[in-house]
Amino acid sequence: MTTETHPEIRPDVLRERAAAALTAARARTAGLTDVVSDPDLTAQHSPLMSPLVWDLAHIGNQEELWLLRNVAGREFLRPEINSLYDAFQHPRAERPKLPLLGPEEARRYAAEVRGRVFDLLDRTPLEGTALLDRGFAFGMIAQHEQQHDETMLITHQLRAGEPVLTAEDPQPPQGPAPAAAEVLVPGGPFIMGTSAEPWALDNERPAHVREVGSFWIDTVPVTNGAYQAFIADGGYTDPRWWAAEGWEQIRRHDIGAPLFWQREAGQWLRRRFGVTEPVPDDEPVLHVSWYEADAYARWAGRRLPTEAEWEKAARHDPAAGRSRRYPWGDADPTPLHANLGQRHLRPARAGCYPAGASPLGVRQLIGDVWEWTASDFLPYPGFRAFPYREYSEVFFGPEHKVLRGGSFAVDPVACRGTFRNWDLPVRRQIFSGFRTARGV
Ligand code: AVJ
Ligand code: FE
Repeated sequence: MTTETHPEIRPDVLRERAAAALTAARARTAGLTDVVSDPDLTAQHSPLMSPLVWDLAHIGNQEELWLLRNVAGREFLRPEINSLYDAFQHPRAERPKLPLLGPEEARRYAAEVRGRVFDLLDRTPLEGTALLDRGFAFGMIAQHEQQHDETMLITHQLRAGEPVLTAEDPQPPQGPAPAAAEVLVPGGPFIMGTSAEPWALDNERPAHVREVGSFWIDTVPVTNGAYQAFIADGGYTDPRWWAAEGWEQIRRHDIGAPLFWQREAGQWLRRRFGVTEPVPDDEPVLHVSWYEADAYARWAGRRLPTEAEWEKAARHDPAAGRSRRYPWGDADPTPLHANLGQRHLRPARAGCYPAGASPLGVRQLIGDVWEWTASDFLPYPGFRAFPYREYSEVFFGPEHKVLRGGSFAVDPVACRGTFRNWDLPVRRQIFSGFRTARGV
């Protein structure tokens, strides 16, 4: 009940994995930045977001800082640009006014850093220091680039104008539907977090025992159809369902539906990457704030799962008495397990991916939509900031809520049963949805 097992991975395998992860991240970055014009790259599409050209050079700058400067001890290629790409020195809203590298310069800079990083990866033993151990710093940088790729995809969603991104739609549900709408997760301890996963980030560590009482949890995320019933029942006009700050937000901004939805001729439509289309009833609801998720759950006579409940539902194997890396086991995700990696530009319908179900039959915990939990973003017992306080530690506290499981826009390298995301409870431009729970 209290073990965390993890297969050893050989150094040459880790090296290949790091190289492949860095290459995949750069291909995605190129795909997101090569499809728009230079003026589009330098424009700010929303005050919530950076210009795409900032993300591009910031990706290269963090890679240079952690791998070339801090791992290899090299001098910076262009020390004068470092402060421009330090997220803590300049809030997103003011980034367009900075003397940023232009699109061509930013691409060249990121490519120059990458060339040197590949030389380093070829020659450096993946052991000896905490940053090098099992290739952590390389894995961290691949995850960082993928996280910014998701951020850039959010910028694309906020961008006005003709669609520039395309992808196949997910398959409709295959195989048996979930046996029930919710399952009972029996009370008892489980292992939360990890000390074994080589590229787990600081906030996922260390593995520790958590006692979680019995609870019921939805077998699939809340759908657009279910969410429309909340709207139709006057959910947005009844303060009983809303936390005080959430009620204030929806009144002040006159919010009555998820972001990007509009009502036309008695029908809900949504804008998705530049295309306006009917809202599909059977897809997980997307672009809701924590307040909207919390209000829906209260209206439904339920509540959001806590972060510990979510992770227990996703990782605990009651038969073996251990925590898995993913709901389906320890194997890395394949397209049969989950909708990840921007293979599609939307969530798959509720009830998809039976092969990705947990031992108790909970589906789509990984991929599709980030799931809001009831919990504040807090450190685990024994937390140590690594390698820098500004990744996690400065965000701990009651002002940020935890999201779990990853969206269709998350690459597998930055997604696992222990992965923790967080955001302000008012945020709704992110690829966020939720499922509900209840006590026994
Ligand atoms: C973990 C997604 C909240 O994008 O703000 C990127 C990840 N940290 N660069 C963010 C991150 C530094 C972070 N989130
Ligand atoms: Fe960053």
